[in-house]
Amino acid sequence: MANIVIVGAQWGDEGKGKITDLLAEEADIVVRYQGGSNAGHTVKVGEEVFRLHHIPSGILYPGKLCIIADGMVVDPEVLKEEVEELVKRGLSVEGLRISLNAHIVMPYHRILDGIWEARMGKGRIGTTGRGIGPCYADKAARIGIRMSDLLVERLLKEKLAINLEEKNLIISHYRPDLPPLKMEDLLPRYLELGEFFRPYVVNTSQLIHQAMDEKKNILFEGAQGTLLDINYGTYPFVTSSHPIAGGVCIGAGIGPRRIDKVIGVCKAYITRVGEGPFPTEIIGEVGDYLRERGAEYGTTTGRPRRCGWLDLVALKHAVKVNGLDGLAITKLDVLTGLPKLKICVAYRIDGQETDVFPVDANLLKRCEPVYEELPGWERLEDVDDFADLPKEAQDYLRFISSYVALPICIVSLGPRREQTLGWRVRKEGYLWDRIVVDTVD
Ligand code: GDP
Ligand code: IMO
Ligand code: MG
Repeated sequence: MANIVIVGAQWGDEGKGKITDLLAEEADIVVRYQGGSNAGHTVKVGEEVFRLHHIPSGILYPGKLCIIADGMVVDPEVLKEEVEELVKRGLSVEGLRISLNAHIVMPYHRILDGIWEARMGKGRIGTTGRGIGPCYADKAARIGIRMSDLLVERLLKEKLAINLEEKNLIISHYRPDLPPLKMEDLLPRYLELGEFFRPYVVNTSQLIHQAMDEKKNILFEGAQGTLLDINYGTYPFVTSSHPIAGGVCIGAGIGPRRIDKVIGVCKAYITRVGEGPFPTEIIGEVGDYLRERGAEYGTTTGRPRRCGWLDLVALKHAVKVNGLDGLAITKLDVLTGLPKLKICVAYRIDGQETDVFPVDANLLKRCEPVYEELPGWERLEDVDDFADLPKEAQDYLRFISSYVALPICIVSLGPRREQTLGWRVRKEGYLWDRIVVDTVD
């Protein structure tokens, strides 16, 4: 029995979907605790590719409970499509459970997202446009609509009336080209969506507590990443939730001492979608090489991802704010063919070197990366053992592990399950308890 948290250690898109799917085989329950349809988690099984936005990446195995917990914001239109797509492809969604408390992303949230971005002009965040910020803002303002409200006409009508009055004022001011949103359109549609989801809607934190009492294995699947956390990321270029491990407690309703292990997922390089400072960004040929080899285009928006060298200053920050116990390094294969690899080991700011990550975007913008150079490798076969990796790849992984003083527990060499060290020759014990590179190595 174990409660394992999987978090993004960078700016998102680290391969959390793949790692969650991999570990889900040995879990009973998989829980998403924050974010919403801004997330895009791609899971490749054989030649089939699944793209998940709300539904935990455990849904591909039969018999798992997949929970959308209290801290999430749900866009019911998108979630319905997601459910229907899975069913069309022959999968069961019987294990899906949605929290009564999850907030609902309404059509006006998506419009407001666009208005806020347009107003910020050059200072825009580059959001996914999915209405995430405005929905969390309404949650904090205590005027949000929750899953439970979609099940009771009177409640939904009352809350919609308050929101429509305010939102239509703003929309008509900034977007006079758009027609006002109408109660007679939204009320029946969202009641209908409520009916669609009624069989799945429950008190999910109670369900999680019960599962813990029954000593089940639970995986908590983070969305976005540490550097997008609204407190510990590069504010204001962040998302509006808490992707970090602490987000599990508030987003799923469990005490911090119930978490047994926190695994940080980290690419062998780093990417960012949207605006904001990015010290190790590579503009030019090598950046393009990583983008093409790594297929670095957004799962949710299709936007090209900005690519850069691995940033160990940022990773150390992620180790601390998440209390990471181990790392899952993904996409090592993508670096193959580059003769020299740079790794950022410090920042230089105003002539001083530091290895402390500044969470202020203005300060981060002024940081220059200090690099160490490591030799690359020419070929990287799909192997099962660390010892069969090229020596340069082994050294690259050892360098990461020793800098952050953490073991690497998973190394991924491709998008599929079997493209993971230690997957084919299965040994005793859970995959999440393995150590591929120890800190003392
Ligand atoms: P997430 O948001 O953290 O789940 O990551 P995304 O799914 O947005 O992006 C990761 C992409 O990399 C997906 O298309 C995965 O299929 C793919 N991927 C995951 N691990 C590996 C790997 O080790 N090597 C390669 N080449 N691709 C990977
Ligand atoms: P997964 O779970 C990468 C980024 C957006 C933007 C900022 C705010 O797939 O790793 P938002 O729409 O959340 O208000 O946008 O956060 N962003 C992500 N970047 N992966 C994600 O999710 C992201 N979700 C949001 O690009 O910079
Ligand atoms: Mg993604």
